[in-house]
Amino acid sequence: MGSVDPVAPELVAKIFSALYVRQQASRVQWKNAQCNPYCVVEERPLSVVVRHPNYFTSLPGEYYTSPQIFEQEKEKVFKRKWLYVAHVSQVREPGDYVTVRAALESLIVTRDRNGAVRAYFNVCRHRGSQICDELSTGKAKAFVCPYHRWSYGLDGSLLAAPAMRNGEDFDYPEFGLQEAHCEVFYGSIYVWLGKEPEMSLRDQLSGGGMFPINDEKLSSIEPERVKMIHENRHIAKANWKIVMENNIECYHCASGHPDIAVVADLENFYYERGDDGELVACGVDSSFGLKEDVKTYSMDGERVCKKRLGNLADGDSFVWADMVMWSSHPHFCDYSQKMIVHPISVDTSEIVLQWFVHEDAVEGVDYEVKDVIALFSAVAEQDYVFVERQQRGVSSDRYIPGPNHSLRETDMEAALLDYIKLMEA
Ligand code: FES
Ligand code: FE
Repeated sequence: MGSVDPVAPELVAKIFSALYVRQQASRVQWKNAQCNPYCVVEERPLSVVVRHPNYFTSLPGEYYTSPQIFEQEKEKVFKRKWLYVAHVSQVREPGDYVTVRAALESLIVTRDRNGAVRAYFNVCRHRGSQICDELSTGKAKAFVCPYHRWSYGLDGSLLAAPAMRNGEDFDYPEFGLQEAHCEVFYGSIYVWLGKEPEMSLRDQLSGGGMFPINDEKLSSIEPERVKMIHENRHIAKANWKIVMENNIECYHCASGHPDIAVVADLENFYYERGDDGELVACGVDSSFGLKEDVKTYSMDGERVCKKRLGNLADGDSFVWADMVMWSSHPHFCDYSQKMIVHPISVDTSEIVLQWFVHEDAVEGVDYEVKDVIALFSAVAEQDYVFVERQQRGVSSDRYIPGPNHSLRETDMEAALLDYIKLMEA
């Protein structure tokens, strides 16, 4: 804790969602970023200081180890962000459903008879049993709780409760499934677990409108016309913010991810200082860091699927991300990938990786799953070790947050400031 001086409140917004900045232009200047030694939100200094005069740090140890802080996050963070949960290809037809995790909740995501995507809390209105098995998928005409056989329609309404009559024992319409707010963004399904969204999904994904979404580019990629070919779920003994931070920075990539260094020029992930001290994002970010002549993120840089995503050329890419409840969605010329972190407890997280190819691609003809997933699977295995090692370290009494690299861990600062803003609102 320490005293802080008020400075321009727009700093937080300016450095929020840096990946969006990167996707909009190859060189983006963040004015004032260097000359603001502290941050404030709504004119009120943040009590957790991560911004120091010459550097920023990660959070104090208790933010990664305290069950009390994790409890606060349930209300202040997890219910105040749109969370990616599934892709429309998983619920193409009415009645298709997938049971997903969204932070600490289990949700049934389905498509109703009118074709709308809906997300219901997987909690029976009788005595609270989970209705669908966690992570199950299928096609349903109704969702039937296995305990006492209450059944619910695709619209969430209670259809039947054995031996209990509608209007006599109780009124069925009052006991439909509870629904989460749900929006679809170019094929990606997001939910809001809180009562009412505090912002639209587009607002969140555009950093409050400061970085307009490139609809023209997105439409040309057709991110909704993909299908999931593989999913990898891993329970890591690490706080979700440790996982988030690791995913945001590439300071560790040179030593920690030799396979990335084969296809990507790591300088493209870093920032540099302009002549007047402003931060400048390096590289041509439509390539997501790829070296020249490298076509995609694969072990050898060659394409791993013959069918392209929309009109993405070799070496081209597009990404959107949520910097706080970490999820990223890079699209390369021949496949796309999603990475999501779910908090489980203060020191345990689930890391989910999903891979997609064009919906018309045929396995064995256009692609082999092992080739599509090879690079990011290897990277993920390396990161699992890093995050668990860091979790053990920050649990020590002697952990004191040290200086982060202002140009190679830059995006982490934005995410941490946004996190603090949520926690202290
Ligand atoms: Fe679901 Fe009883 S708890 S029917
Ligand atoms: Fe990594």
